[in-house]
Amino acid sequence: MRLSILALTLGLYGLGGALKISTSLLWIEHTPQPYAIKNFYKGRSAATLHSGGVASLGSDASFDLAANAETQGLKQYANHRNIRLIYVICEVPYRIVANKAAGIKTLADLKGKRIGTFKGSSAAIFIHNMMASAGVKDSDYNVVSGDMCMKAPCASNSFPQMLKQRKIDAFGAWEPVVELGAQAIGDNAIIFQNASVFREVYSFYSTTQKLNNPAIRKDIVEFVRALNQTLDVFRDKPESVYQWVASEVGMDVPTLKAVWDDHKWTGPWKPDLMDYLVAEDAYLARVDKRQVIPKKDLETFLDTSILEEL
Ligand SMILES: *[C@@H]1O[C@H](CO)[C@@H](O)[C@H](O)[C@H]1NC(C)=O
Ligand SMILES: *[C@@H]1O[C@H](CO)[C@@H](O)[C@H](O)[C@H]1NC(C)=O
Repeated sequence: MRLSILALTLGLYGLGGALKISTSLLWIEHTPQPYAIKNFYKGRSAATLHSGGVASLGSDASFDLAANAETQGLKQYANHRNIRLIYVICEVPYRIVANKAAGIKTLADLKGKRIGTFKGSSAAIFIHNMMASAGVKDSDYNVVSGDMCMKAPCASNSFPQMLKQRKIDAFGAWEPVVELGAQAIGDNAIIFQNASVFREVYSFYSTTQKLNNPAIRKDIVEFVRALNQTLDVFRDKPESVYQWVASEVGMDVPTLKAVWDDHKWTGPWKPDLMDYLVAEDAYLARVDKRQVIPKKDLETFLDTSILEEL
């Protein structure tokens, strides 16, 4: 009992010294975090990764950091104005793979079709943005749910098999499921991608409480520095990490190589991120039936202060 109170106190005040990070452990995007811990991070003690995402920062005060797409970041920030986006790990212009055998030659041909994606996720925003860019309304196509697949052979309820079995006409999400879908239908595959219409901004978050705690803040700066060193390796020497990344997320190396260039290892973001977030939030506010986040609050959400301390 006494020990658990001690652990709780240490955790809440950062006295234990181990940064606690909530992130998906499944996707390519997250892998710079374990790589940074293994190779570069020099905090007071080892940082720990836990399965989750930015929602943990709102629900569990023991978490110091989290990683997630900007979509989840905005959804959480709408109700937790203490969350800050402090770094961008990577940007991924997601892809749609469609089946030419279903008569699809252009994005607009997806009107009236069955499109697989993960509802409520960044991939659903991606499908909406892509279809809107082709003048197709949300009500003019059917969104179908299915499962991820990281490596062939894919299960029958995963998107690549659903595409192959003609249960859907197309699907779009983060990688490598799109690549595996394209492999599954071979010459019938047609790909749609447009980074100016949609890119995932896979970001790194903390809270004002953690950023204002001097001991924790020092470790956060160290962690972001380690991430920044990691991104240099991912960007400039990918052949040195393919095997490692593939085994972290249960992929094969040829498939990882095929999707590697769709991952832009970003770090410091560009000023156009603000307009991108404003536009995405306006759509999320409609879908989630909530108020839009005022632009001045989004300006607070994007916090460059850790980057400035590196
Ligand atoms: C990407 O989308 C923009 C904005 O809709 C459009 O102007 C551009 O032509 C598109 N690019 C491609 C390659 O389709
Ligand atoms: C972070 O990475 C960027 C891109 O490689 C680089 O320009 C910058 O100097 C790095 N910052 C630090 C403190 O390492």
